[in-house]
Amino acid sequence: MSKNQLGIIGMAVMGKNLALNFADKGYKLAVYNRSEEPLRKAIEEDSTGNLEGFSSLKDFVESLEKPRRVLLMIKSGDPVDEMCNELLKYLDKGDIIMDAGNSYYKDTIRRTKELLEKDINFLGVGVSGGEEGARRGPAIMPGGDQDAYAHVKELLEAVSAKNEDGGVCCKYAGTDGAGHYVKMVHNSIEYGDMQIIAETYLILREAFEIDNELMAKEFEYYKDGIQSGYLLDIAVNVLREKDEDGSYLLENIKDKAKHKGTGKWAALEAIDLGVETSELVAGLNARVVSSMFDERKEFNSLYPRGDYEKLDIAEWRDDIKKAMLLSKIIAYAQGFALLKEAAKEYNWDLNYKSIAEGFTAGCILQGRLLKVIMKAYEEDKELSNLLLSPVLEDIVKDCYPSLRKVVSKAIELEIPIPAFSSGLSYFDSLRTYPGSANMIQGLRDYFGAHTFERYDREGTFHHKWSK
Ligand code: 6PG
Repeated sequence: MSKNQLGIIGMAVMGKNLALNFADKGYKLAVYNRSEEPLRKAIEEDSTGNLEGFSSLKDFVESLEKPRRVLLMIKSGDPVDEMCNELLKYLDKGDIIMDAGNSYYKDTIRRTKELLEKDINFLGVGVSGGEEGARRGPAIMPGGDQDAYAHVKELLEAVSAKNEDGGVCCKYAGTDGAGHYVKMVHNSIEYGDMQIIAETYLILREAFEIDNELMAKEFEYYKDGIQSGYLLDIAVNVLREKDEDGSYLLENIKDKAKHKGTGKWAALEAIDLGVETSELVAGLNARVVSSMFDERKEFNSLYPRGDYEKLDIAEWRDDIKKAMLLSKIIAYAQGFALLKEAAKEYNWDLNYKSIAEGFTAGCILQGRLLKVIMKAYEEDKELSNLLLSPVLEDIVKDCYPSLRKVVSKAIELEIPIPAFSSGLSYFDSLRTYPGSANMIQGLRDYFGAHTFERYDREGTFHHKWSK
């Protein structure tokens, strides 16, 4: 009997859906899960006969053709190390382990080194698109040794999403942790973009006389254009969804958001590398604040919001749409600036156009703006900041007065808009030349002789302050 071409470990929903996707594409697969039930379900759902289930890891590994290709779809963190250690008992020189979870890129770098010492290739593979993406075609962000990648490229490309131009959304990012790094930044942009959607919802809910159906119509208007994409599409559906009793489900969901780590890692990373990603971090912090549920109730009763006259939606529609668009662009500008710095720091030869293309279908960020971003990097592959691209210049100029208007109004109406306002501050800070850091430098030199540079002379100076 011919050997299996790929082995997948972990038959929870994502693993199962990815396995079914591979099976549909004609690949013969070994699937393994510690407990029986998920394994049984996967085999049951497969209509191709291409899945072979194993409850013994040894038999699973032995059923694979060489070099063996094993894909892990398990919880990130310790379980990945534990599984790699178990696999080492059965794998041979040159075999390949792919970790397709949301693993921390530093763990991926470490695992790559540790496993290479044992002649096993380790690839960190970012996968985006949720359950549906895994089943129908996710965006895939592989990283690791290029020769090892050559052994899995065809497989991963076969199951990945394809965009409307036929572009394959499986883009090799770079060595060791690059794939997981790109996925981490993808998720961080996702946090920023989702926060913009949430803040828009809050503005609509608080500043206008509007029900969910009308809000959904507004969102349909906002998503008509280059900001159209998956997250706005599903926002419309979330707004319209009804609960069993006919009320809007959204109103019954607690405003208490969770997170699983990728946004936090990206925020820590941005601080480490000295990259300003305040809009993305605002997405993370807003979730943190949302979780301070009881405290917020206390704040609300001590400092209630004032009463304001409702605004006329027709007067604000276009400004909100433009504010959303520019904030979305700023989220990408910050995310890609982080990637650019990481490329220097970790010696990765990142191709930003290719990364943007990889996001055009299958993933949570998929949307039309990605094509514009691709064009920006096509014109200048070392672009220092997306907002400086001639491709985006007219859009940015057209949108920023609206972002300012929306931010000012929301502040006046006591509506918290941390992502919108951080994005605007980022943009304003970059445009302000000269800025205010001369005062910081003066203060630092005054109290600590930290020295400063001057416009009129080269060098560093300490001033003998007269008082
Ligand atoms: C994706 C998603 C997916 C998941 C993340 C974010 O690209 O398919 O990003 O990976 O939603 O884990 O989760 P949190 O919002 O819980 O951090």
